[in-house]
Amino acid sequence: MDNRIKWGIIGLGKIANKFAEDLKLSKNAILYGVASRNLDKARSFGERYGSIAYFDSYRELAEHPEIDVVYVATPHAFHFENTMMCLKNDKAVLCEKPMGMDVVEVRKMVEEAKSRNLFLMEGLWTRFIPATEKLMELLEEKTIGEVIAVRADFGFKGDGNLNSRVYDKELGGGSLLDIGIYPIYLSLLALGVPTNMKAMARMTETNVDSHCTMLFDYGNSAKAILESTIEADTPTEAYIYGNKGTIRLHSRFHHTRKMTLTQEEEKKTIDIPYVGNGYFHEIEEVNKCLLEGETESMKLPLGSSLELMTLIDRVKKEIGLRYDDENND
Ligand SMILES: NC(=O)c1ccc[n+]([C@@H]2O[C@H](COP(=O)([O-])OP(=O)(O)OC[C@H]3O[C@@H](n4cnc5c(N)ncnc54)[C@H](OP(=O)(O)O)[C@@H]3O)[C@@H](O)[C@H]2O)c1
Repeated sequence: MDNRIKWGIIGLGKIANKFAEDLKLSKNAILYGVASRNLDKARSFGERYGSIAYFDSYRELAEHPEIDVVYVATPHAFHFENTMMCLKNDKAVLCEKPMGMDVVEVRKMVEEAKSRNLFLMEGLWTRFIPATEKLMELLEEKTIGEVIAVRADFGFKGDGNLNSRVYDKELGGGSLLDIGIYPIYLSLLALGVPTNMKAMARMTETNVDSHCTMLFDYGNSAKAILESTIEADTPTEAYIYGNKGTIRLHSRFHHTRKMTLTQEEEKKTIDIPYVGNGYFHEIEEVNKCLLEGETESMKLPLGSSLELMTLIDRVKKEIGLRYDDENND
């Protein structure tokens, strides 16, 4: 009997291509269906990655009885609508980050999944990258003592095309939701939820943030200094400072393959490879959960996605970033 998990993908853009390459590396999965708004695109994507079926409607894929789990890879603004449609058709969902445009959306998605006993997870691949697993181990063992600060940036120079996904407000544009989510997630992993925060941003003509700087405060103890930008190629590194040492996650820290651990005079750089483009590890987590009948990942529980989005909403409020039909919580 074929026990492989049958995947569907909706929204066949940049990330869907990288994801589909990694899906081919999994022995526990097959690509069953792909859906685009355009039939030719769906057909050629399907042929490239060996999909059994292809559709020119997201709904058709969501309703297909053979598909177990759908990877939602559309722009942020559609994550809620697309995920809800899949859940309502009894499909498990791996939804790209950020899971929704605000915590109200994320909460509704979580409630829908729970009420139907369906698996749901945010596509935060960082959590499953082997170097992140190693980081979690080191923090758990207090290898660098108590964490006193996190410093992380993520920046790239955008193409300036105001109609593209990262600038277009209607698609959920801006640096915070697209890449600021990674430094924020790292701070959550290392330090939890801050008590206070300050954030400042520069806005684009389209009125989304092009540069966002954040300072998180954890009482009279740790601090996090975080930054995201679509205006410049920044180092995209992270440092976690403890009272007994430092961990450096080399560029790009959110899927790094190299970590440097410094303790007193000793400095050690470790290579920690990952499989494929790095998405393989989150794919295997989803397969494992589905094969074991779990409805959420222990490593990336839905509570983390709710915390993350709540934190992002706090930053949005600080910088005056509002999306048009944003929910008021
Ligand atoms: N985990 C990661 O490393 C990572 C990296 C990049 C992006 N992402 C996330 O993945 C999502 C997609 O990013 P991407 O870079 O792949 O974007 P993209 O290249 O623009 O692709 C998005 C796809 O969504 C579909 N879509 C549906 N409605 C659309 C609309 N109104 N306008 C444009 N596209 C629409 C399109 O697919 P069809 O034409 O086939 O319908 C499009 O190709 C984002 O939420 C982003 O945060 C994650």
